[in-house]
Amino acid sequence: MALIEARGVSYSYNGKQALSGIDLSIGSGQFVVVLGPNGSGKSTLARLLNAIILPTQGEVSVDGHLTSDKASVFDIRKTAGLVLQNPDNQIIGDTVEDDIAFALENMGLHPSWIDSIITDVLEQTGLTAQRFSNPRELSGGQKELLCIAGILAMKGRCIILDEALSMLDRENRNLIVDLLHRLNRENGLTVVMTSQDTEDALDADLVVVLDDGKVVASGKPEDVRIVPESFASSVASMLRERNVAVSEEVVSEDGLLKALSKKGAV
Ligand SMILES: Nc1ncnc2c1ncn2[C@@H]1O[C@H](COP(=O)(O)OP(=O)(O)OP(=O)(O)O)[C@@H](O)[C@H]1O
Ligand SMILES: [Mg+2]
Repeated sequence: MALIEARGVSYSYNGKQALSGIDLSIGSGQFVVVLGPNGSGKSTLARLLNAIILPTQGEVSVDGHLTSDKASVFDIRKTAGLVLQNPDNQIIGDTVEDDIAFALENMGLHPSWIDSIITDVLEQTGLTAQRFSNPRELSGGQKELLCIAGILAMKGRCIILDEALSMLDRENRNLIVDLLHRLNRENGLTVVMTSQDTEDALDADLVVVLDDGKVVASGKPEDVRIVPESFASSVASMLRERNVAVSEEVVSEDGLLKALSKKGAV
């Protein structure tokens, strides 16, 4: 059974259609990247998968629970946690430790369990040294890591990231993408990531391309024609024309820089 399923889902904001006829099946342990230009419906979809909003038509289920079932909302959000681009609104504790502990205390867990869960998830996310820091003083990347740690602490099975990494510099971004892939590989964590960067989709198990509120393509990265829209892809093809070998997969500025730095060109 799929972990997350959308069946015939449409969503309108005050009569304005943002998504229409979305069918999507996300298996447990999949790494899914949702691509699409501004306004294509990525954030709307991310919020539908986490029961923040409910479909105007159709239904979404998470681990067998319909998001429209009020009694399941807590379980759904525990199973599939959402990380946003600006995590400040999601941070509540005065220290990193407190921020993670808050939800666990609400679940009535014994303090010694809470302590060991926190030790574990801080180690997994590389935040051990920040345990007693004020979360508001963390860097953007560390704040994203704290949100991820919070979801791991709740034994979340799926992390949904809505362009959560788009404001980070390349180093922090790569660090978090690597962490997500590691958690996916080693712990079977399901990852659903929205992005405008086609490079993110290359290592995904499933790529879903949205345009104007509809799924216009979905499948494995090699089966989905990821339309290169970047300046980088045209520079890469010009280089190829001049017999500089640049992989066909280079479609973003990041990828182009990496490819050129391997050749010692930058
Ligand atoms: N709160 C809102 N009220 C009214 N319309 C909205 C609202 N949020 C989004 N929309 C509209 O719904 C459509 C889909 O928006 P959405 O934010 O889901 O797209 P997106 O792919 O996440 O875009 P971006 O890449 O800019 O984040 C757009 O036409 C947008 O204008
Ligand atoms: Mg968005």
